[in-house]
Amino acid sequence: MIILGINETSHDASVSLIQDGQILFAGHAERYSKQKNDWYINDSLIKNVLQYGYPDRIAYYEKPLLKASRLALRGGSGDWKPKYIIDNMFGKRVPTTYFKHHYSHACAGYYTSSFNDAVIVVLDAIGEYNTSTIWVGEGDKIKLKYKQNYPISFGLFYSAFTKLIGLMPNQEEYIMMGMAAYGDWKKYYRKVDDYFPTINHQKYNFHQGINDWGWIESEQDKFDIAAAVQFVYQQRLNEFMHMAYSMTGKKNLVFMGGCALNSSANTILWNIFDMIWIMPNPGDAGSSLGAAAALYGKHLEWKNPYLGYDLGGEYPVQEIVDGILKDGIIAVATGRAEYGPRALGNRSILADPRDPNIKDKVNKIKQRELFRPFAPVVMAEHASKWFDMDFESPYMQYTVKCLQPEKIPSVVHADGTSRVQTVTKDQHRGLWRVLNKFYLETGVPVLLNTSLNIKGQPLLNDKNDIEKWEKEYQSKIITGVV
Ligand SMILES: [Fe+2]
Repeated sequence: MIILGINETSHDASVSLIQDGQILFAGHAERYSKQKNDWYINDSLIKNVLQYGYPDRIAYYEKPLLKASRLALRGGSGDWKPKYIIDNMFGKRVPTTYFKHHYSHACAGYYTSSFNDAVIVVLDAIGEYNTSTIWVGEGDKIKLKYKQNYPISFGLFYSAFTKLIGLMPNQEEYIMMGMAAYGDWKKYYRKVDDYFPTINHQKYNFHQGINDWGWIESEQDKFDIAAAVQFVYQQRLNEFMHMAYSMTGKKNLVFMGGCALNSSANTILWNIFDMIWIMPNPGDAGSSLGAAAALYGKHLEWKNPYLGYDLGGEYPVQEIVDGILKDGIIAVATGRAEYGPRALGNRSILADPRDPNIKDKVNKIKQRELFRPFAPVVMAEHASKWFDMDFESPYMQYTVKCLQPEKIPSVVHADGTSRVQTVTKDQHRGLWRVLNKFYLETGVPVLLNTSLNIKGQPLLNDKNDIEKWEKEYQSKIITGVV
């Protein structure tokens, strides 16, 4: 049976296609419409996914009427109507099943994990009513153990402060997370803590924003607020995760929902659990796969996150290495696009991390704020010599201390940490070979890896995007297409 999973009406629409446990395709609407964080599915994306098979069933990631009732009764922003299912041919011809928002998150995590026994924690801004849930996965069964409802919400707390310091809520939380390293968390700790003093108490309905903060005096204040918010968030997260462990006794954690994108906070979870799985697309954009998995009701065969648009071609290993050694920086777009917010080698800018000036050069190309950090990608077998970690981080989900910052200054943040991507030969043979060749030439098994996109736009997807980028920046992208 072929199942098409869909999520839309949220801040990142996507579709996924599975057949008998195999993931055939998973892609984001924004990469096709070029509208960052696009809420709705579009025809180009549907055309692409249908090349991999026509669905017998559709699985949708929410209960639309339940969400509509919450919007009407309790407030909040957003849409509830699954337009693509209702308006186009699928809705008329293909039977559709609707799953609860948090259950779709839980299924996206557990059924892509290698665990047969785990606690599943979902933390996001809001689903229909649920905002924080704890589940137990045993075999192929998933059972709800705990739920917290709107308006108390980890995600809305973080988003409200994102908005307060002048960034875009539901989109630029990762910028505030990066800003935290430049701030003094103690300055506003008490004030911020007062908004979220315990895991089941908050001062506000954060959907309505923070309206009693007062005047933000300086730019540095924004960094200090970010640091305090990150600190308080991590305290509450730690408490919530301890509760999840005590409630279930499980030492394997599956963590899902938009909050699982907070790589600085995720690292503390290794103090509680033995094994952790965060699907590389843990936010709502991952829930098209979650809904499909929910309908399938069993574990999927998870291989890697390269599941989207296919540019084809062999990974251009030698061309990349030669380019980095010659120019210090290259752009690469090849093979299938990443499913998830991070570029993990197939739509990436790769650069020499030894050069302290390379960060400014990449920031200039990407037209980003100069304080923003860049992430390293490292051969997994060398990771523990360069970074303080005894676990793998194949999808850039954990921030750890860099052990040799003087050797790779361009991938170390202001607080001495790095958001690491580890690569094994099995995960991405081409990228591993690039790193290995660079290591043999330089003694450094690390490269800078950041997303290949024009500022404010989604990651590059297809050939048209490559042409546009090359024209805009007057520089060539290595494609590997023969
Ligand atoms: Fe969500």
